[in-house]
Amino acid sequence: MPEFLPVLKKDDINRMVVTVAHKISSDYKDKELILIGVLKGAFIFLSDLIRNLSIPVKVDFVGVSSYGNKTSSSGNIQLTKSLEIDIKRKNVLVVEDIIDSGLTLAWLIDYLMSFKPETVKACALLDKRERRKTQVQIEYTCHVVQEGFLVGYGLDYREDYRNLPEIYHLKL
Ligand code: IMP
Ligand code: MG
Repeated sequence: MPEFLPVLKKDDINRMVVTVAHKISSDYKDKELILIGVLKGAFIFLSDLIRNLSIPVKVDFVGVSSYGNKTSSSGNIQLTKSLEIDIKRKNVLVVEDIIDSGLTLAWLIDYLMSFKPETVKACALLDKRERRKTQVQIEYTCHVVQEGFLVGYGLDYREDYRNLPEIYHLKL
């Protein structure tokens, strides 16, 4: 049976989301901001984040897949849903659930740059540093973890556990 070790409780997550939302609201005050959620993992974080912003924003999603059924990135990234909003000369913030190797974010930033936005920055709920393979800049990080495979609050293991309201370290 898999074990679920608690990592972040509802209150912890809420506090982090409010804090990062305030920072984003102040940094992008009087600027046009487009948030781009990375499917599927970021959908819950993004939906909480935007409801805590005090500035107007537009929202879009991109879909990428690199894990398949494994717990580490293959580095072979595939676009499963492309951008719909025109981001040319706009400020873009990529919203991710978790950065692990960094390969997905690095790939996404290149993809988004091809549309000639004004700026592209990144926001991640979780920053897992243990297996970083490429240097990526994350302007907004809510929480740093050293290791482990995390599930809940949008994060899955083989499509399970996304609906858990809190975040757990999954021990298989
Ligand atoms: P990276 O390309 O290795 O940085 O992986 C990024 C993507 O892998 C994230 O967008 C997540 O969807 C997924 N991922 C990485 N670590 C975890 C984890 O601990 N739990 C669930 N998904 C993860
Ligand atoms: Mg993801």
